[in-house]
Amino acid sequence: MTLDAVLTRIDIDLPASLDRLLDLLRIPSISTDPAYKADCDRAADWLVADLAGLGFTASKRPTSGHPMVVAHIGDAGPHLMFYGHYDVQPVDPVDLWTRDPFAPQIEETAKAKVIRGRGAADDKGQLMTFLEACRAWKATHGALPGRITVFLEGEEESGSPSLIPFLKDNADELKADIALICDTGLFADRVPAIVTRLRGLLGEEITIEGPTKDLHSGMYGGVAMNPIRVLTRILASLHDDDGRVTIPGFYDGVPEIPDTLKAAWDGLNFDHCAFLGDVGLSHLAGEAGRTALEQIWSRPTCEINGIEGGYTGDGFKTVLPSKAHAKVSFRLVGQQDPHAIRESFRTMVQSMLPADCTASFTPHGASPAGQMDTSGPAFEKARQALSEEWGVDAAYTGCGGSIPIAGYFKTYLDMDAMLIGFGRDDDQIHSPNEKYDVECFHKGTRSWARILAALT
Ligand code: BES
Ligand code: MN
Ligand code: MN
Repeated sequence: MTLDAVLTRIDIDLPASLDRLLDLLRIPSISTDPAYKADCDRAADWLVADLAGLGFTASKRPTSGHPMVVAHIGDAGPHLMFYGHYDVQPVDPVDLWTRDPFAPQIEETAKAKVIRGRGAADDKGQLMTFLEACRAWKATHGALPGRITVFLEGEEESGSPSLIPFLKDNADELKADIALICDTGLFADRVPAIVTRLRGLLGEEITIEGPTKDLHSGMYGGVAMNPIRVLTRILASLHDDDGRVTIPGFYDGVPEIPDTLKAAWDGLNFDHCAFLGDVGLSHLAGEAGRTALEQIWSRPTCEINGIEGGYTGDGFKTVLPSKAHAKVSFRLVGQQDPHAIRESFRTMVQSMLPADCTASFTPHGASPAGQMDTSGPAFEKARQALSEEWGVDAAYTGCGGSIPIAGYFKTYLDMDAMLIGFGRDDDQIHSPNEKYDVECFHKGTRSWARILAALT
């Protein structure tokens, strides 16, 4: 009965909730680009003010990078932490957007009503689902249930450089009974999910240098080693014909998933043809003989994310460049050791260098894979709450993306994390025209109200 009142309140308040989200989306809090430092600060201020308005003791906490937002409310009962991130990805290529990424709007598309703008789904729209659930609860009951700590980060999209020191320095303040992380997606359009396994992430930037200066390819071509030729040969050798990664020791610590889990995933009837079809593809390109879900949730990968060198402008230039450059990342699973893989990758690159060429490396993050312990009662309670809201059983799933903080909560705060989010596969996170469906925002908010009721 009381929960019904909160849900009704959420329904009535939806237009105002959307207005608040649009307001937050107007702040271009791009964490990786120093030009937006003041905007990141402004997004933190906005959230502190909003949380304070809900009765939280809220503060902006400086770090050597962008500030954290920490807020507390309540003094008795179960203690829940909620985590989200207020920073967003850069918007480029900006000419592919159908609107200004920071002038968000509600749009009616053929498929759904959507909130369009950078950060709509990753992660401002998602974090606001929790705050809106709190708002409706407060409006209905005059107070929030249990004890709640809200912890919002502004550096997630740039590798969370301040996070571990902050967790260590504020462990007593931040530790709760369990963390709720809203930064993942639904399993299918109307099937909610609790993510129980996340992949790790390792990034490497590599520069191959040859001649001391750019050369005329007619005068020097053939006799002088071309760094792009070296780089592409190395990159091409990272996978074999079966889609496996060739770096020595890469598969150390990669477990085969048990048959029972394989059967459970098969039972989810994931439609990989539709998944690929939505992006104009039809064939699985990963490790031969493995299903799409198995690949995304349980297998490691190596991807070349960017490549640069020589003349790439309009027209044509017969240059033999002095340098070539690539960004490579690895998604990790099981017990794979990011540092060991980094070393092995560098050794392999070094071993493939011809005379007169050198390689240099810049590291970008190294987080291991994570697996949640779902044995605590909170998981089943939350699963039931989600199932009630969506009218179908919520699934325990994996996630191909990386959210290293889930593991850090365990390591530094000894706190389990439950990952529940409402994004859809076609949200275009990190890409032009990011959106979040109004339905996901609305039902996500309702889901949190139910989960709060179930856990407190
Ligand atoms: N919210 C995403 C993680 C995610 C991606 C969840 C896809 C569900 C589906 C998160 O903000 C993110 O982008 N993580 C980065 C890693 C981070 C260290 C930059 C990623 O997965 O590439
Ligand atoms: Mn995110
Ligand atoms: Mn992201």
